[in-house]
Amino acid sequence: MADLPGSDPVYQTDALIAEDIEAYLETHQNKGLLRFITCGSVDDGKSTLIGRLLYDSKMIFEDQLAALEADSKRVGTQGQEIDFALLVDGLAAEREQGITIDVAYRFFSTEKRKFIVADTPGHEQYTRNMVTGASTADLAVILIDARKGVLVQTKRHSFLANLVGIKHIVLAVNKMDLVDYDQSTFDRIVADYRDFAREIGIAEFTPIPISGFKGDNITAAPSANTPWYSGPSLIDHLESVEIANTAAQARPFRMPVQWVNRPNLDFRGFSGLIASGAVKPGDEVRIVPSGKTSTVKSIITMPKPGSKDSGEMAEAVAGESVTICLTDEVDCSRGSVIAAAGDPPESADQFEANLVWMSEEDLIPGRGYWLKLASQQVSATIQQPKFEIDINSMEHLAAKTLKLNSIGVVEVTTDKPITFEAYETSRALGGFILIDKITNATVGAGTINFSLRRAQNVHWQSVDITRDQHAAMKNQRPAVLWFTGLSGSGKSTIANLVEKKLFRMNRHTFLLDGDNVRHGLNKDLGFTESDRIENIRRVGEVARLMADAGLIVITAFISPFRAERQMVRDMLPGGEFIEVFVDTPLAVAEARDVKGLYKKARAGQLKNFTGIDSPYEEPESPEIRIDTTAMTPEEAADLVIDQLLGSG
Ligand code: ADX
Repeated sequence: MADLPGSDPVYQTDALIAEDIEAYLETHQNKGLLRFITCGSVDDGKSTLIGRLLYDSKMIFEDQLAALEADSKRVGTQGQEIDFALLVDGLAAEREQGITIDVAYRFFSTEKRKFIVADTPGHEQYTRNMVTGASTADLAVILIDARKGVLVQTKRHSFLANLVGIKHIVLAVNKMDLVDYDQSTFDRIVADYRDFAREIGIAEFTPIPISGFKGDNITAAPSANTPWYSGPSLIDHLESVEIANTAAQARPFRMPVQWVNRPNLDFRGFSGLIASGAVKPGDEVRIVPSGKTSTVKSIITMPKPGSKDSGEMAEAVAGESVTICLTDEVDCSRGSVIAAAGDPPESADQFEANLVWMSEEDLIPGRGYWLKLASQQVSATIQQPKFEIDINSMEHLAAKTLKLNSIGVVEVTTDKPITFEAYETSRALGGFILIDKITNATVGAGTINFSLRRAQNVHWQSVDITRDQHAAMKNQRPAVLWFTGLSGSGKSTIANLVEKKLFRMNRHTFLLDGDNVRHGLNKDLGFTESDRIENIRRVGEVARLMADAGLIVITAFISPFRAERQMVRDMLPGGEFIEVFVDTPLAVAEARDVKGLYKKARAGQLKNFTGIDSPYEEPESPEIRIDTTAMTPEEAADLVIDQLLGSG
């Protein structure tokens, strides 16, 4: 798996291009599109079945292939002739992110419909692949070997299909030829499956007896070998099943704004894919989160290739990509959602969600990740999972974290409110991905269950004395001098000297020191990765409050992780966070060993000791760097003061 940087412009346009191609194919063919996923393993005869579907449909259009090929080149697909994944907008955010999880997408067409099949491996270690493929699918074909019946993997696949919101399940009981087309075998499997399906909340499914190898009940003609079966063949069902857009169109109007289209001063339109409902010129809409209302002036779609059409629409519905112009100059940007004025979606900053973990590195509760939902991106932290779900037995297990391919129910907190709907109601506004802030890799995919009420009942209280007034009264500019470095590097010593000097200069200061704070506010925390993250989060919040009160705050914590130092930096107004890296080589700190802790750590009596068996991530560009091997603490303190005065 290669994770490409999300900043790569090629991948940012990827999702839009996928939409273009699809729009093109849609109009070109004038046929509905069904996306489905096949679940099963090689043993179940999956490849044979897909091969047969492709072959029997006998229709892959040369011109479509040519269009795809050209576009694959346009976005710079490497080492691959055609990127069928371009057809799949699906987890649009994920596509922009440029994640490449192995999912093979195949494209075929019959007279009635076009199809995109996501083919993912069935084993448990490919859960993330299946979730990726399934997240865009309308229907899942769950393959069962008639000789084996309902297996653990059948349950796993069904659970995952249900989790990602697939409403149509086909139970394809395959290899019927090997059980002599025996009706009772089929009936028993269907009854077994029905019991299980009910347990996990799948209300309906369509069972079909087939043979991928012999071709029974795959294409239109009913098989003479199963006279007892009167239902549709697989293709019949795939061609006729009613899919999502009708349901989505019946719901209130929502369109997440993908980008603001402003070619010149006379035109300002908001472009995006309509997630639900319908919209007409004259409709009153509300921009969420700003809450401002306006009226739709016009709706414009991309003109069809080769057409002279202006692209103005009388109405647009769920599933269409459009540009909406409003009658007023309202505040609306990428990430906003344009919604029906009388029935807007909710905004909140705390949720319960199901989370599928997709990274080799475990989830770190408390760590900040980027969360992308529709076109919104915010910083988010995940609390320790409420429980993990064993995807084979559906049991709830206690868990401290989530590992690759595991699924849990978690609480998510975002740094600002996002506009969303429960995933059950809207895949577009209820599904999100998590991105590691340092590596930029997609690490998780989640589905929102509901917002947490406690978030709705806590509001910001406005106060009359502002932060500026607090600072003005003290006649200084607030700042947070953040000392970071190994244990024994000299942070506390230098920080202490700096405070004394500032104090003598009549500055209002306060020193927060790791060893001290850990006796009070943070006495419940130890030295695991998540405890250290929580330690820094709390200290960051306290430092922020003190800076709000107008103080110059000095902190001395190892604060070993870049991500959390960055988190504190982001909490403060620009320029107020001053990172001071006390750069002492491990060997020197260890030789000093003032508290005798290195000795203990080396002897194995102290676990998770920074520099020994717990990492220290050096600052990449600290405002101030102190080489303690080249100067005394006194000189170091002077250096800090000089820099501080120099920067005002
Ligand atoms: S931090 O990593 O969470 O930022 P903090 O600065 O609060 O650490 O606390 C570090 C101090 O705790 C060290 O100076 C040391 O005295 C003490 N300590 C005890 N156990 C450990 C440990 N396992 N790793 C680092 N410091 C430890």
